[in-house]
Amino acid sequence: MHIPVVAGGAEYDVVVAEGLTGLGAALAVGRGPGRCVVVTNPVVAPLHAARLRAELEGAGWHVEQLEVPDGEANKTLATWEALVGGLLAARVDRQTPVLALGGGVTGDIVGFAAATVLRGVPLVQVPTTLLAMVDSSVGGKTGVNTASGKNLVGAFHQPILVWAALDTLATLPDAELRCGFGEIVKHAVLAGEEALATCEALAPALVARDPAALARMVADSVRTKAAVVADDPHEQGRRAVLNLGHTLGHALESVCGYGVLRHGEAVALGLLGITRFAEAEGWLTEPSLPRRLESLIAALGLPISAPADVDPAALARAVGYDKKRLRGMLRIVVPYAPGRIELRSLPLDEVPTLIQALPIDR
Ligand SMILES: NC(=O)c1ccc[n+]([C@@H]2O[C@H](COP(=O)([O-])OP(=O)(O)OC[C@H]3O[C@@H](n4cnc5c(N)ncnc54)[C@H](O)[C@@H]3O)[C@@H](O)[C@H]2O)c1
Ligand SMILES: [Zn+2]
Repeated sequence: MHIPVVAGGAEYDVVVAEGLTGLGAALAVGRGPGRCVVVTNPVVAPLHAARLRAELEGAGWHVEQLEVPDGEANKTLATWEALVGGLLAARVDRQTPVLALGGGVTGDIVGFAAATVLRGVPLVQVPTTLLAMVDSSVGGKTGVNTASGKNLVGAFHQPILVWAALDTLATLPDAELRCGFGEIVKHAVLAGEEALATCEALAPALVARDPAALARMVADSVRTKAAVVADDPHEQGRRAVLNLGHTLGHALESVCGYGVLRHGEAVALGLLGITRFAEAEGWLTEPSLPRRLESLIAALGLPISAPADVDPAALARAVGYDKKRLRGMLRIVVPYAPGRIELRSLPLDEVPTLIQALPIDR
């Protein structure tokens, strides 16, 4: 399946494929095989790098391979600097494709290095987590974390190709797969009734890792993200709807401690929370949405309530620090119904009411 993306003056395909076969030839179109650099990490390298190299070499590419350390804690300027050094030592030029093989952490770091080395070299995303396939590899946001917060340094750099090889998911732990489900539910709510109903119908098959169900959901999800990104490549306005569930989600992640709740789990909870808030405020035009989302999130194996020991006051403080804050108001993304999502401003003194809507294991 080829999904065209048009964003920020760039046009590229997201290919949702059974495996890696065909990637080397697709990359050679218009530029011929030459040198390329694969950047991966120590977890993914032994699982999938040899197959990727064989695919590329089979299509005539000469492949250099580099690694960045694994894990969110290594999504830093130091890792970026070391990678830029490695790319320069590998003598990349402005025509040398750099391929990011791994999850969103690797994709974000490699993307930022590709955006900055020589002021930009061609980037290919080869996402190997479900989250990276449906979210981080599409849309051109790249970057690293700093002591001041997550993703505060980065660049918009659209890839020239995204290749989601579904067979790489075979080695992905269930907990990481579930994180991808969190973003898939978010995209389904953004897309509308039909997408949400499809997601509901496919939930058992997704949990069972049915290949056809995964292929369908990844493609649907990418289409939704691509459509939003196309309208607003540099996040001036409408792209902010992609933060649905993330205001509460980010707060939960930081208060519970990164690693206690994974990102996709926190997003699912944040989505439930903001939907219940919309219900309490009388904004919903589809009254069944909170119940439907709770059933779907549970069916996908994601949590439907936050840990009992999470402190609501700490959550309120964390929400107040959210970077979406603007002139004393909090920007929130509110679902009124599937496909009907609006940005609203919430006075900061109403944040405790928002927190109350969050399901907590009491
Ligand atoms: N750029 C964007 O638009 C965007 C959007 C959403 C998220 N993100 C970023 O993405 C990151 C999260 O990405 P993630 O959830 O993919 O986490 P991750 O990259 O940390 O991957 C999770 C773990 O799974 C391992 N892994 C990856 N593929 C595997 C496979 N096929 N088999 C076995 N193990 C595998 C990874 O090495 C890692 O240990 C965060 O840093 C977030 O900020 C960016
Ligand atoms: Zn997210």
